[in-house]
Amino acid sequence: MLSLVNCAIITALVSVLYFLFKKRNHNGIYGLPPGPSGWPIVGSLGTLFGVQRHQKLASDGRKYGGIFTMHIGAVHSVWITSFKIFREAVVDNTWAFAGRPQHIWLTDETTEKNPGIIASGVDETARNVRKFTLVSLRSFGFGKTSMQDAILRESDDLIEEIRKQNGRPFNPRSVVANAAANVISSVAFARTYKQGDEALAVVNDSITNAMQHILKAQRDRIFPGLRFVPFIAKFRDSLNNSFSAGKRFLSGIVSEHVAEHEAGNPRDFVDMWLDENGKSEQSAESFPVSRLENVLLDLFAGGFETTTTTFQWIFALLLHHPEVQVKIHQELDSQIGQGQSVTLETRDLVPYTEAVILETLRMYPLIPFAVPHQATEDTTLAGYRIPKGTQVMLHLYSILHDPELWTDPETFCPERFLHDGLIKIPDYWVPFGMGRRSCIGEQLARKELFLIFANLMKSFRLVLPKGDSLPSLDLQQGVVIYPSPFKVVLVER
Ligand code: HEM
Repeated sequence: MLSLVNCAIITALVSVLYFLFKKRNHNGIYGLPPGPSGWPIVGSLGTLFGVQRHQKLASDGRKYGGIFTMHIGAVHSVWITSFKIFREAVVDNTWAFAGRPQHIWLTDETTEKNPGIIASGVDETARNVRKFTLVSLRSFGFGKTSMQDAILRESDDLIEEIRKQNGRPFNPRSVVANAAANVISSVAFARTYKQGDEALAVVNDSITNAMQHILKAQRDRIFPGLRFVPFIAKFRDSLNNSFSAGKRFLSGIVSEHVAEHEAGNPRDFVDMWLDENGKSEQSAESFPVSRLENVLLDLFAGGFETTTTTFQWIFALLLHHPEVQVKIHQELDSQIGQGQSVTLETRDLVPYTEAVILETLRMYPLIPFAVPHQATEDTTLAGYRIPKGTQVMLHLYSILHDPELWTDPETFCPERFLHDGLIKIPDYWVPFGMGRRSCIGEQLARKELFLIFANLMKSFRLVLPKGDSLPSLDLQQGVVIYPSPFKVVLVER
């Protein structure tokens, strides 16, 4: 039992700590922007892991002028919630905020020397690798098959798979996930896998596991002592195991490509990388095979979970808004001939269908905090001095729900992207980020979402299974924001 004296000492200590934290946080430390006081030691942990975290971050942002400092354990981060300051950070300052903090992503013995893209820094090699990958993805097609053909093939297979459900309720995630993974695997290594194929499932599961648990595992970065706590260590172990399993699968694919490689005749991204690697001694150093495996894993990490989950959000929203589905069907029926597929060439004819995707990504930006950034030099932002090494968080969710930028931001309204029958996207539509570290898969993702969604809608009508209630639109915690699982019935039109 604690004696009265011990109790008094502990209370006094906690009060002093609280006072110090409060004073420090209100004044801002090291010239950082001021921010919420939070609790002693744990700081604002409750905000980050709370159910209403995005609303709380947005309201803190409004209170402190669009930029504030948040303290959690050993980590002090500057959070940006206003579009003006966001643009100043990532566009006007080019590389000054384009770094990444250490240990934010999955690691093994190769990632320190040869990281993929997500966790890489801003050194010349990292910039070259990012540029090479971006250009390769933008070229939108390798070898003989164009990327559009590959996506349309996936959409046909998906439609067949859905027909097999025969009007029974099913969880849309499982079938859409296979299509999304196949789009990346056809770009990356010219292969596709059948629904339920175990090989691809290993990579998919490792990415889903990482996206769901990496935030929890981050607690040991924030509180270094926690890495010895068994339940936190369990998340790290599980992440490391799935990372290794994903890497083993990808390294098998790369070895086969190395054995079959014909220089100058690339079939896919892996072949292009091997061509680049063979150009000179210097390029062999920048584009080694061990980096290629990490880049491939990052392409899956960036592209698989995000596109799969976007489809889930679109389906959930359509169940809530049957009038939107009616408009999509009217548009598709009047603009696209019977028995014809929707293609990129006919995209401009169906702007409402595309606006539904843009509005879904506005309401549910899949990576709402972006990936953590880091200041690469001492610099100033919105008049505050930001020292080199400071972690900078871009709260895309705040920008995409800012009532000063969007009328009725909590209302699902695809029309907000239509002007005189044409799509118009404001520059503050930022679900893919902006600047030097923005998403390298944006073009691919938008084409994939459009082609698959439009062709699905051409074939089916989405209905709620009898007796089920509408899916919850609350966000589930993770790096990616998920809806709770739900079922749909797709009725052939
Ligand atoms: C709906 C789909 C997607 C969304 C919403 C999305 C969103 C994002 C966001 C917000 C970032 C972080 C930007 C930042 O830190 O400033 C990012 C980074 C990234 N994304 Fe995507 N993404 C999507 C699809 C894809 C696809 C299809 C790929 C690849 C095939 C991809 C690959 C990446 C990579 C490699 C990065 C890291 C870039 C870097 O660190 O320089 N993403 N994405």
